[in-house]
Amino acid sequence: MTSDAPLEGRVALVTGAARGQGRAHAVRLAGDGADIVAIDICKPVSDTVTYPMPTADDLAETARLVEEAGRKVIAREIDIRDLGAQQQLVADAVEQFGRLDIVVANAGILSWGRIWEMSEEQWDTVIEVNLNGTWRTIKAAVPAMIEAGNGGSIIIVSSSAGTKATPGNAHYSASKHGLVALTNALAIEAGEFGIRVNSIHPYSIDTPMVQPEAMMEIFGKYPAFLHSFSPMPYHPVNHQGKKGLKEFMTPEEVSDVVAWLAGDGSATISGSQIAVDRGTAKY
Ligand SMILES: NC(=O)c1ccc[n+]([C@@H]2O[C@H](COP(=O)([O-])OP(=O)(O)OC[C@H]3O[C@@H](n4cnc5c(N)ncnc54)[C@H](O)[C@@H]3O)[C@@H](O)[C@H]2O)c1
Repeated sequence: MTSDAPLEGRVALVTGAARGQGRAHAVRLAGDGADIVAIDICKPVSDTVTYPMPTADDLAETARLVEEAGRKVIAREIDIRDLGAQQQLVADAVEQFGRLDIVVANAGILSWGRIWEMSEEQWDTVIEVNLNGTWRTIKAAVPAMIEAGNGGSIIIVSSSAGTKATPGNAHYSASKHGLVALTNALAIEAGEFGIRVNSIHPYSIDTPMVQPEAMMEIFGKYPAFLHSFSPMPYHPVNHQGKKGLKEFMTPEEVSDVVAWLAGDGSATISGSQIAVDRGTAKY
C-alpha cells in the first residue's frame, strides 16, 4: 500500500530553494510529508552571472507554498559558500524539527565563455558555488544525519554537463563533473550510516538560469559548440499526460525524480548518476 505522505516525519534541506527547481523540490517534498529547511542566497552572486537572481520575496513565497502544503518550514537567506551559516542552520533545524533525513544540494550558477577567455572571477565563482559550496552543504549536514541515526538520502544536483563536455561553459561542466566524484565518494563514506547519495543530471529545464539569448550568442560565434547541446527529443507522453513535443522540461518533472530518490522506493540506489534528460545525453 502506498501512503499519501511517504515522507511523513522526515525533514529535508533544500538549497537554492527561492525559485526554479529548488522551489519545486521543496514544495514536492512537503507535499510528500516532509518538513522543509529552505535556503537561498537571494541576491546577485557575481557580475559574471548575467541572468537576474531571486530576491527574499521569492524565498518567502517558497516558504508560503510549503506551509500551504501543511508542513513546517525554516527559510533562511544563506550563501552555500558560507559553512558556518549552514552549520548554524542545521543545528537550528535539528533543535526545531529533531532530525535531518534528506538533503537536496541544488543551488548553482551558470555563465558562458571560452576557457581561455574567462576571467579568474568567472571561473572561480562557478567552481566556488557549484562545487565547493555543495561540499560545504554536505559538510554541514552529514554529521547531523549520522547523529540522528535514521540514515537518509542525499541528492546532489549535477547536470548533463556533469557527464559530457559542454563547450562554452567548461567551468560549469568541471564543477558538475566534480559533483559526480563527490557523490560517489560520499556514497561509500556515508553508506555505513545508512545514508544514500546519488546525483541527478538534468538537461533543459525551464528556469531563469536558461538564457536563450546568451546561448544563441555563443552558438552564433562558435557554431561547432551547438553539436554538444542536442534538442529535446520527441517524447510521446509528457508529465501532464499530453501528447506532444516540448522544448523544455518543467522543474516539477525533475521533482518527481528527486521525490523518488528521497523516498524508500529507491532504497537500493546509491552512488548512481541519474540522467533527467529524456535520453538527450545519449546523442
Ligand atoms: N535549468 C537547467 O536546464 C539545468 C540543467 C541542469 C542542471 N541544472 C542545475 O539545477 C540547479 C537549479 O537550477 P535552476 O535551473 O533551478 O536555476 P535557478 O537559477 O532558477 O535556481 C538556482 C537557485 O540557486 C540559488 N543560488 C545560486 N547560488 C547560490 C549560493 N551561492 N548560495 C545559495 N543559493 C544560491 C539561486 O539564487 C537560485 O534560486 C542548479 O544546480 C543548476 O546548475 C539546471
